[in-house]
Amino acid sequence: MSVMYAIELDGFGGPEVMRWAQAPDLAGPGAGEVLIDVTAAGVNRADLLQRQGFYPPPPGSSEVLGLECSGVVARVGDGVRDWRPGDRVCALLSGGGYAEQVVVPAGQVLPVPEAMDLAVAAALPEVAATVWSNLVMRAGLRAGQLLLIHGGGSGIGTHAIQVAVSRGARVAVTAGSQAKLDRCKEFGASILINYREEDFVATIAESGGADVILDNMGAAYLGRNIEALADDGQLCVIGMQGGVKGELNLSTLLGKRGTVHATNLRKRPTNGRSGKAEIITEVRRHLWPLLAEGTVVPVVHAELPVTEAATAHGLLDSAETVGKVILRIRED
Ligand SMILES: NC(=O)c1ccc[n+]([C@@H]2O[C@H](COP(=O)([O-])OP(=O)(O)OC[C@H]3O[C@@H](n4cnc5c(N)ncnc54)[C@H](OP(=O)(O)O)[C@@H]3O)[C@@H](O)[C@H]2O)c1
Repeated sequence: MSVMYAIELDGFGGPEVMRWAQAPDLAGPGAGEVLIDVTAAGVNRADLLQRQGFYPPPPGSSEVLGLECSGVVARVGDGVRDWRPGDRVCALLSGGGYAEQVVVPAGQVLPVPEAMDLAVAAALPEVAATVWSNLVMRAGLRAGQLLLIHGGGSGIGTHAIQVAVSRGARVAVTAGSQAKLDRCKEFGASILINYREEDFVATIAESGGADVILDNMGAAYLGRNIEALADDGQLCVIGMQGGVKGELNLSTLLGKRGTVHATNLRKRPTNGRSGKAEIITEVRRHLWPLLAEGTVVPVVHAELPVTEAATAHGLLDSAETVGKVILRIRED
């Protein structure tokens, strides 16, 4: 059996458990799958949880960390017509991105726009699929609406600001420092709230309430998010950085005819209703032209060699980043 290199875990724990080491070569690609020579992998908050043993991969997925990558198609399985060896691609993964090669269903692969650096494209699949599926496919965000994004300086936040502005929405953000708020303003946010100094409910109320809220905090913000909604408002919970169990005031919610959505990307099936392939198709059709023309740009805070994955995890954990951290796995 030949070998490839991947990030292996010496048990669960801190960043030091990650090791760039030989791993068994991948089987495949099977029917409907694509084998990618990985150029770079995006680092996600979920990777930090998986490393600590709190976020196991869905059944059948690679145990290797990594929910997104960019690279070059090496081989395609039977029945794959959209991709050919040599294509520059990026892909949404259920795992396996921190490796020299990964196998992924063809429906989770996207082309890399011609003018875009291949490594930088690793910063896109997770944020693009998460933001588009929540703000557009679920909440139907429209021009003139007010969107509140918690954690505006995050990988998700910096992308969501740009997507919302491109649709003509007004954007409010929360962040923990003036420096992050300044960056959010550059991306197009117009209401800037330092959550350490200001009550976001009061500020949002002055603007008539939020039509849509994209929330990373979960339980800690549940009550205040409902208060901050406008009539017919929609709360999209995508993160639980502030806990998983909160109290929901149904009286306030129904008085506003409000909706609470809560979605996860990784556990979705590839195919079928609400599957990853459906989201990727929508992203490719509607968002990819905005990336190709530069209306929406990838935001990369730092690129590190994969051998420095521990430093990359520490950086994301420090909350000092604006946008994404990516790991370089091979030169183009
Ligand atoms: N459901 C899904 O499918 C899905 C997919 C991808 C990501 N996510 C989730 O989306 C969230 C963002 O992901 P990411 O990769 O973009 O994370 P990230 O870049 O690590 O950002 C996390 C952000 O949370 C902010 N934050 C911390 N405490 C806060 C508070 N009290 N109020 C507002 N913001 C606060 C931090 O910045 P400050 O300095 O401003 O505190 C930081 O910018 C994470 O919770 C992640 O798990 C969900």
